[in-house]
Formats: sequence, structure tokens, C-alpha cells
Amino acid sequence: MKRILVTGGAGYIGSHTAKALAEAGYSPVVFDDLSNGHRAAVQWGPLVVGDVRDADALTRCMREHRIDAVIHFAGLIEVGRSAIEPDRFWDVNLGGVAAVLSAMRRARVERLVFSSTAAVYGQPLDDGPAPLVESLPLQPINPYGDSKLAGERLISACARAYGLQAVALRYFNACGADRDGRLGEAHRAESHLIPLAIEAALGLGPALTVFGTDFPTPDGACVRDYVHVEDLAAAHLLALTADVGDSGFMALNLGLGRGRSVLEVIEAVGRAVGRRPPAEIGPRRDGDPACLVADAGRAGRCLGWRPGWTDFDAVVRSAVKWREAPAFGPAAAPDRAVA
Ligand SMILES: NC(=O)c1ccc[n+]([C@@H]2O[C@H](COP(=O)([O-])OP(=O)(O)OC[C@H]3O[C@@H](n4cnc5c(N)ncnc54)[C@H](O)[C@@H]3O)[C@@H](O)[C@H]2O)c1
Repeated sequence: MKRILVTGGAGYIGSHTAKALAEAGYSPVVFDDLSNGHRAAVQWGPLVVGDVRDADALTRCMREHRIDAVIHFAGLIEVGRSAIEPDRFWDVNLGGVAAVLSAMRRARVERLVFSSTAAVYGQPLDDGPAPLVESLPLQPINPYGDSKLAGERLISACARAYGLQAVALRYFNACGADRDGRLGEAHRAESHLIPLAIEAALGLGPALTVFGTDFPTPDGACVRDYVHVEDLAAAHLLALTADVGDSGFMALNLGLGRGRSVLEVIEAVGRAVGRRPPAEIGPRRDGDPACLVADAGRAGRCLGWRPGWTDFDAVVRSAVKWREAPAFGPAAAPDRAVA
């Protein structure tokens, strides 16, 4: 198995995965409409520009490039936006999965790795910081999580129906940047805490708002599990050859199993930048769970996955290094490639 179609490979996690694939001897082919990704992030193989809902274009691409397996990242990612445009999120996120599956069947590609999310768990009870296991009830609380869970269910139904082999990877909070400085997080509308905190600390963005300090957590702020994007990329490579058992489908959490509160993130960004990001305390946001921490034991057992980026300060420093000199994206210097 050599040639891997990476949908959404011009985006944040997809581009890091394309790089890891190339470094491991695979040949990645990126399929992306560049709506939130960057041409300059595609550095390790050809880019096919297209819409992931277009099953005919995907089929042509799979046949032309003699694709052996697909890693499907392409989709809409802003949770808040999904409450405003739920139909668009279902269309792209579930319609994208349906088109990928249909094209794989026509092009006889049998292996799929799918980007899923901790958002499929919804709002676990506020009864303490117990890490989340895959067997918990799946009760998303926003259209983004609904659309990703529906994607998982369609994939697992196809695995039962006709022999597709698939792994859904449920990421917790992706963060950090490529150690070589060639890739990083460059979303057009950034909604993730670490890049926003870095921008605030560097004086490049507004002060942060901490949404609630009255949660049942050690310091009262929300706790999340931050996993470095290179560790996520490594898990996708392992998932390409994992034994998925008789059902043909498995879902695995990817996180460190260690949470950081919003206030801890602010302190870590302050240490990395040399200046604490200005922050004010605001009320809770609707539907923000107190604590989302992964039990990633199953990924360890089934994939042999062991995240290497366990020093949170080093993770944050990798993101700061990127943000200070992004190679592309909305914040890049004008003489750098921006697509
Ligand atoms: N970033 C996280 O913390 C996180 C957490 C959990 C799950 N995920 C999932 O991981 C995947 C990648 O996330 P990311 O942070 O790299 O996002 P991203 O926006 O950087 O990457 C997504 C890519 O998909 C492309 N795309 C969007 N709509 C498309 C369409 N209709 N046709 C073709 N391409 C399209 C975009 O141009 C972009 O390059 C997503 O599926 C997301 O739901 C991300």
C-alpha cells in the first residue's frame, strides 16, 4: 500500500499527515478545495483541487493516481458556525463522507481513515475528570458533532455491508506545529485557544476571554486534552495498516489522557512568549463541557500509538515558533507564499 489520497490535505492536520506519509515512504495525493487550506501547505505530492462532495471527481482522482487508501480530513470545522449553518455542515461533512465512500467503491479502494472528534461524546456529566472511553454514549450537542457522528455511522454501515476496512480517529484538541517550521495552524477564522492566546500575547490579536471559572475543575476553568499535530499524523499512518477485526470498523480516541485548563494554557503561552496574554473572565458559553480528556488506551493497544509530545511547554513553543514566522496563511509576511 503506497499511494494515499489525503482529502483536506491542504489544511492543518492533513498537511502534517501528508508530510509524515512522505517521510515514511508513502506517496500522498492531496484533494482539497482550498476553502480553508493553503496551496503552499501541499509540499509532498500533487494537489487536485476539487470539492469532496463530488464523487465523480474523486473517482477520477483515485483511478488516475492508482490510490490504495484514503485518509479523509476534508470538512468544516468551526463548532460555533455549525449552529448557524447546520445544513451546510451536514452537507459538507456527511455529504463528503458519502461521496468518498461511493468513489472508493467505484475505484475499488478498500481502506479508509476518517477524522472524527471528541465532539461525538457531547457533554459528559459534570461528575469529575474521568477520561472518556470509546464505549460511552455518543450524544453530540452541536451540528458539527452530529455531522461527524453521522459520518462514522455511515462508514461503519459500509464496512458491514461490503468489506470496507475503516478506522475513525476521534481527536481531542489538535495543537502545535511541525518541528521543521514548514507547516502550522493557519486557519482563516481561528477559533482554537492556543493560537488565539499566542496572538493576544504577541499583541497581534485581541485580549482573550476565559469563558467561565466556575466549573467543577481544579481551578474552575474548562479542561481540554491537547494533542500535538505530529502525534495525530503518526496515528493516521498506524491506522492505515491496523487490524480492524471482523466488523471492518473501529473508532479510537487520540489524546494524551492529561487535561490542561484554559488558565494553565494561558500560563504556558505566557512562558513561551515571555509575556502573559491579556485575558478577562467572562460567563460560561452554552454547551461547553467542563472537562474533555481522552482515555487513549485503545489507540495504544490497537495501533501501538504512543504520543511523543508530552511536554506541554514544548508543544506551545512549537506553536509560538510557527506564529512568529508563518510560512503561509493569513498572517504570513507578504513575500511568503499565501494561497
Ligand atoms: N483541529 C482540531 O482540533 C480537530 C479536532 C477534532 C477533529 N478535527 C477534524 O479534523 C479534520 C481536519 O481539521 P483541521 O483542523 O486540519 O481543519 P482545516 O480546516 O485546516 O482542514 C480541512 C481542509 O478541508 C478542506 N475542505 C473543506 N471543505 C471542503 C470541500 N467541500 N471539498 C474539499 N476540501 C474541503 C479545507 O480547504 C481544508 O484544507 C476535520 O475533519 C475536523 O473535523 C479537527
